[in-house]
Amino acid sequence: MEGKEISQAVIRRLPRYYRYLGELMESGVERISSNELSERMKVTASQIRQDLNNFGGFGQQGYGYNVKYLYTEIAKILGIDKSHNMIVIGAGNLGQAIANYANFEKRGFVVKGLFDINPRLQGITVRGIEVRGMEEMEDFIRANDIEIVALTIPKNKAPEVAERVVACGVKAIWNFAHTDLNVPPDVIVENVHLSESLMRLSYNIVKSKK
Ligand code: NAI
Repeated sequence: MEGKEISQAVIRRLPRYYRYLGELMESGVERISSNELSERMKVTASQIRQDLNNFGGFGQQGYGYNVKYLYTEIAKILGIDKSHNMIVIGAGNLGQAIANYANFEKRGFVVKGLFDINPRLQGITVRGIEVRGMEEMEDFIRANDIEIVALTIPKNKAPEVAERVVACGVKAIWNFAHTDLNVPPDVIVENVHLSESLMRLSYNIVKSKK
């Protein structure tokens, strides 16, 4: 498995496998065939087998998949068997909503700090997390082993802030600002754009009416 390049399409599907397997575990299911999993997930059984074969399969002929084992292995692949410290920059509507969502922590994403340039927001707390001024950001990142920075600031501010966090050694940016960030090749940017998702939904509404 080590060193093998896994396609981004497979990586994108893994969280969904993880979610289904978690639900199966909660309902006491210990093993499942690719056919049963396929029915539940509305993905072909061959797609499931192909996807999971990327990681050595985990399945056994005639037995199916051991749910807990597969769940644990996918967590390791996704790196969510360990926790990741995160900060949110921009403590407005979206930044506060992210900080308020306690369930990220269940997946190991721990919001350690919130930052904003607006002095009126500085000092308030969201789910016990204090909003700090931007001048404290660099020291905070270094002192708290921050791996992920969520950017929930206006798009014209995002490039300069991204540059500052990259200069501190941060390698992962969760970007909500509606702009593409130019970062060095060793920095990963995951863009999340709800409006793009809505546009895809709109396309499908239009298509279904044709
Ligand atoms: P907001 O106006 O409520 O919050 C933005 C916050 O960023 C403000 O508190 C502001 O003081 C702060 N800020 C501005 N410049 C900053 C800087 N240089 N450093 C630190 N903080 C700074 O806006 P809202 O609704 O929370 O949206 C935030 C951003 O996220 C916007 O760019 C918006 O377009 C985007 N957005 C993206 C979505 C997505 O799906 N990707 C969904 C909703 C909003």
